Amino acid sequence: MTPAQTPIALGADHAGVGLKATLREALRAAGHPVLDLGTEGEASVDYPDFARAVCAAVTEGRARFGVLVCGTGIGISIAANRDPAIRCALVHDATAARLTRAHNDANVIAFGARLIGTEVALDALRVFLSTPYEGGRHNRRVAKLSPDWTPPS
Ligand code: RB5
Repeated sequence: MTPAQTPIALGADHAGVGLKATLREALRAAGHPVLDLGTEGEASVDYPDFARAVCAAVTEGRARFGVLVCGTGIGISIAANRDPAIRCALVHDATAARLTRAHNDANVIAFGARLIGTEVALDALRVFLSTPYEGGRHNRRVAKLSPDWTPPS
């Protein structure tokens, strides 16, 4: 499976389900395969469960990147970052999305559905997916975040 064919994994709790659906449809419209790991509907659920499912898809190579959404983005990004192979950035704009790919080789992006506008989230996600990791001086630092990490080729 070449990278472009590897899906983008999505996960959200009940507070993030609406924004997740919007992001999912935008990804599909742009030609990205998606792996939606839930939740569906607005019944109350626990965000760590969806963070774990998305992070497992990323670390097992079933997904190229992960996208997580909860009310603030805080809980679900904390949950994601408990996995040492995950570098999840909670972002509020496209600049942070660009810099976390370029400097941190972030593999998961998180949004707070109650805090971010839809267009800003869509723009940030587009930028996140199209920005390469810069390497160079960042390699040593990223390796300290994720001990098994090797620079992408
Ligand atoms: C759910 O009400 C809310 O606490 C959750 O979506 C998230 O904001 C937690 O960080």
